[in-house]
Amino acid sequence: MYCLIVLALVTLSISSTTSTAETQDGRRFAVLPRQSAANSSLPIYKDPSYCVDERVEDLLSRMTLEEKCGQMFHMHMRIGANYTVDEGNYDPDAPRNWNSTNNMVIDKHMTHFNLLGEIGDARQGAAWFNLLQERAMSTRLQIPITLSTDPRHHQANTIGASVSPGAFTMWPESLGLAALREPELVRIMADTAREEYVAVGIRAALHPQVDLATEPRWARIFNSWSEDAHLTAEMIVPYIKGFQGETLGPNSVTTVTKHFPGGGSVMDGHDTHFDYGKNATFPGNNLDYHLIPFRAAFEAGARQIMPYYSRPIGTEFEPIGFAFNRQIVTELLREEMGFEGIVVSDWGLITDVVTGGYPFPARAWGMEDQSDENRAFRIVDAGCDQLGGEERPELLVELVNAGRLTEERIDISVRKLLKEKFLLGLFEKPFVDPEYAAEVVRNPYFRKLAETAQRRSYTLLSNKGDVLPLNLESGTRIYSENVNITLIEARGFVSVQTPEEAEIALLRLPPPYNPMNGTLTGFMGFRTGTLEYYDDEKARQAAVYNTVPTVVDIYTNRPIAIPEVVEQAEAVFASFGATDEAFLDVVFGVAQPEGKLPFDMLRSNEAAEGQMEDVPFDTRDPVFKFGHGLRYKSPCERRGGNRC
Ligand SMILES: *[C@@H]1O[C@H](CO)[C@@H](O)[C@H](O)[C@H]1NC(C)=O
Ligand SMILES: *[C@@H]1O[C@H](CO)[C@@H](O)[C@H](O)[C@H]1NC(C)=O
Ligand SMILES: *[C@@H]1O[C@H](CO)[C@@H](O)[C@H](O)[C@H]1NC(C)=O
Ligand SMILES: *[C@@H]1O[C@H](CO)[C@@H](O)[C@H](O)[C@H]1NC(C)=O
Ligand SMILES: *[C@@H]1O[C@H](CO)[C@@H](O)[C@H](O)[C@H]1NC(C)=O
Ligand SMILES: *[C@@H]1O[C@H](CO)[C@@H](O)[C@H](O)[C@H]1NC(C)=O
Repeated sequence: MYCLIVLALVTLSISSTTSTAETQDGRRFAVLPRQSAANSSLPIYKDPSYCVDERVEDLLSRMTLEEKCGQMFHMHMRIGANYTVDEGNYDPDAPRNWNSTNNMVIDKHMTHFNLLGEIGDARQGAAWFNLLQERAMSTRLQIPITLSTDPRHHQANTIGASVSPGAFTMWPESLGLAALREPELVRIMADTAREEYVAVGIRAALHPQVDLATEPRWARIFNSWSEDAHLTAEMIVPYIKGFQGETLGPNSVTTVTKHFPGGGSVMDGHDTHFDYGKNATFPGNNLDYHLIPFRAAFEAGARQIMPYYSRPIGTEFEPIGFAFNRQIVTELLREEMGFEGIVVSDWGLITDVVTGGYPFPARAWGMEDQSDENRAFRIVDAGCDQLGGEERPELLVELVNAGRLTEERIDISVRKLLKEKFLLGLFEKPFVDPEYAAEVVRNPYFRKLAETAQRRSYTLLSNKGDVLPLNLESGTRIYSENVNITLIEARGFVSVQTPEEAEIALLRLPPPYNPMNGTLTGFMGFRTGTLEYYDDEKARQAAVYNTVPTVVDIYTNRPIAIPEVVEQAEAVFASFGATDEAFLDVVFGVAQPEGKLPFDMLRSNEAAEGQMEDVPFDTRDPVFKFGHGLRYKSPCERRGGNRC
């Protein structure tokens, strides 16, 4: 309404009627009056009748350098005991680790945090968020906190990549949604997840992960969509729109599309969180293919991008991590591809930490011998706007004071970061309603939608003699692994302890991987390494298959190599995060498996070694091809009818 008012008229004075209060640890801070009686005294940035851009400029003009630099850091945070604000260091063993919430929010002026750990109870989660937001509202400028998260609406739980759903509705993983090939279902999933996020105060999604599954050994394929760039692009457009809406507004969740320019081409399949996996490699000269989903994301209005940790080897680009890499962030992403939004670096590029007792070096690949200051400089100079997983705004303050970065450069990023908060309506509505959160999160309607999707996304790989769906007499003796026996018995069957006693076996198996016990990789839950089961596990399973007809369901987080299972079991499913009830409904034909594989499934580890990291569909002799997925015969077909 007042969009044409010239900014020169903005008065810089701010209310002098401040008082002071104390934090729980006894430090004092200033409190501004919540709302002045006369609206004429409302600063422009707090007055919603002004345009967003004017509000941004007004706020920016009031900020100290320290306050600006605080915006450029995005640190993780956990909920404290009993849904209190976590006041202390998370890991007391760490030489330098997460400091207290007050230190970050009040002393360091930080307002972007990503929530680690489950929210087990939506009402309490929302109430916790309000307690946290109160800290931000106690600061001089009352810039609201933006809370973000990795995906927390699927089964998977991997530190640094995804959180198990807790109180939230559990959908199949992105691979399971891709198996259904239905953009409209993805939009519904994202739209309902958005409502749940907003209800508890989460306003930024550190996803979608649009990396391509071109390297089958990579531990993060479970959070990707497909080996195919075009299918990935088709799926992530409704995902972004479901979270953000057509335009970003007070009911939106902003999204961070990752990991630019495609995290899937990791050398030998090693993940780049770890120092043994720092390289990305393009032996097939196929980088352009990995950019296809990003182009689709930009078309869909993607607000934010995260570059991956990897450093490119054997390309025209400097061999340093993508976020340090000006050729990647400024030249390729911004200039060539025209992306104008926010670039947030992946977590922990500067500071060495300790996680779970394991040293966790900064992912400063190619920058290992550089000082922390130089690492921070290179990230900002490359064109990133925000540094993830770090809480050291003082590094940027020092770089400006030393004349290495200009305050104008800082302003470019802070302007974008503040604008996001205004568009999300956080200044008008910083708090959430815990009662509403309790009502909306995992409500029966959302659950029904997600549970239907879990069942439909089952992908039937083999079904000898159309043994499925099972039609068993009540009292049939069933041997099972990893299935809740109560649920089997509730269907009228008898659960037995050994294959020998059974008439049929139902196995829900974890996928093959190398557990890397006793290492950081193992601690963080990255399922990496072998795509084949170890020999002892193959023998153990074979003993079951040789004893009793067996139906197998494998949580397919990667394109695993299981030809021997297919050969020996009567029927095999790939599933992508589903409950035991969903599994049993599909086995007994209460629901139909409708999935089609989103990638080729490999024959062996040797086949994985023989393919190229950046090239799709180049594995030799796959056991099942992309798109494979059998259907149950209809009852008419099962009766042998010829006009079904
Ligand atoms: C002043 O601002 C408050 C909060 O935005 C609003 O509720 C109130 O109606 C405004 N009063 C006037 C006189 O505009
Ligand atoms: C959390 O709440 C429980 C039950 O009220 C109480 O026993 C426990 O001491 C609390 N823990 C903390 C850290 O406050
Ligand atoms: C943690 O916060 C305290 C209090 O604000 C501060 O004195 C200390 O330097 C911080 N420690 C680290 C490791 O950042
Ligand atoms: C990464 O690539 C460099 C350069 O080709 C090579 O020297 C190094 O051994 C590779 N692997 C790791 C883990 O750095
Ligand atoms: C098995 O299912 C029953 C019925 O839903 C439930 O009460 C029980 O907690 C489940 N057991 C396990 C181990 O999940
Ligand atoms: C390795 O870790 C896995 C998963 O945490 C556990 O099930 C297994 O028993 C461990 N194996 C060894 C040899 O410690």
